[in-house]
Amino acid sequence: MADTSTVHLVLVGHMGSGKSSVGRRLADEMGRPFVDTDHLIEQQERRSIRDIFAADGEDVFRGIESSVLSEALASPVPSVIATGGGIVGREENRHLLEHHHVVWLRASIDTLATRVASGASRRPLLDGDLRHRLGELDDRRRGLYGAVASVSVDVDGLDLDAVVVAVLASTEDR
Ligand code: S3P
Repeated sequence: MADTSTVHLVLVGHMGSGKSSVGRRLADEMGRPFVDTDHLIEQQERRSIRDIFAADGEDVFRGIESSVLSEALASPVPSVIATGGGIVGREENRHLLEHHHVVWLRASIDTLATRVASGASRRPLLDGDLRHRLGELDDRRRGLYGAVASVSVDVDGLDLDAVVVAVLASTEDR
């Protein structure tokens, strides 16, 4: 792994693991720009993620997501990048992440279900039984998060400050 001060710090993990709120705080603490791929997609497309899924389907969304990720990673300014939970699905994305400091915010299904309950309506992949959907996604993605991550942080029971401290510590260990 390269020196963590010269690469992007990328947060991966399921919906509800805290990537956006942790990322915003980390960027403040580190004096880095903050980039949220979901937010960039909605800005660029001028429509919500739910609308993109409904009108064009998941494949189109994933294509936009890959190009947004690749643009964000191409920035020469080391940034904090919060990604969408499904970013690890595409091999090209996993490959792009290889040279960066990738932190997996790992959470139990219980924690995720509690946290996403209020925001589930803007997440099309959570339509239906929440726990069942999260469980299915976890079966598919757990190994992929593990494969791309430089380090993982178990967020169950931790508040925002504690997660930020743990992620910062991971940048100093190497
Ligand atoms: C998705 C996660 C969402 C968003 C889209 C698909 C996923 O981002 O990209 O709804 O496949 O897990 P968050 O993880 O930021 O909620």
